Amino acid sequence: MLATPGLTALKDPAEARRVLLDDALAGLELVQRFDGSIVDVGSGGGTPGIPLAARLPEREVTLLEAERRKTQFLERWTDELPNLRVVWGRAEEQPNETFAVAVAKALAHPPVAAEWCLPLVREGGAAILWVGPSADAGAVAQVAAKLAGELDDAPPGFVVLRKTGPTPPGFPRRAGMAKKRPLA
Ligand SMILES: C[S@@+](CC[C@H](N)C(=O)[O-])C[C@H]1O[C@@H](n2cnc3c(N)ncnc32)[C@H](O)[C@@H]1O
Repeated sequence: MLATPGLTALKDPAEARRVLLDDALAGLELVQRFDGSIVDVGSGGGTPGIPLAARLPEREVTLLEAERRKTQFLERWTDELPNLRVVWGRAEEQPNETFAVAVAKALAHPPVAAEWCLPLVREGGAAILWVGPSADAGAVAQVAAKLAGELDDAPPGFVVLRKTGPTPPGFPRRAGMAKKRPLA
């Protein structure tokens, strides 16, 4: 990957490969359950979006990132991967139902990540969250139920939320609300 000072604290190349590449591609088969465009929400240094774009060249992949400095780094990758584009902005401020699949790794606590990701996804698509072993799937399911989402089968380390209908009125809530007043 292109070097960028201060974006990650990873010094050991083997550890960097595991965190940036292998962890990202662990979700490849889940993403392939759903056709269509992909958005990586809170892409940071580009994972999982860049590895997914490289492995799925026929799929359009958008890296959505709130911090301008990080998007400047991410934009360098668009020369190498024509199916990649970068958007600077917050998830809560994007148009609803623009993508088939939203992926997110280390974006926020899973209930918050679910609230940010599900409105971006069209009916029939899914939000796919890379989560830690202690993730509370029950809380995520409660949030999903308020956003026309429902839990799908997923291996350990992932939550898959299938979008079963249009986003209910009132979502996304304004920036900051998902963390301040979590839905579950
Ligand atoms: C901990 S980093 C994870 C980055 C990357 N996905 C990874 O796994 O290494 C979380 C990223 O999400 C971005 N972020 C946080 N809230 C966001 C929001 N509401 N919309 C878009 N990006 C957001 C932050 O700027 C940060 O770059």
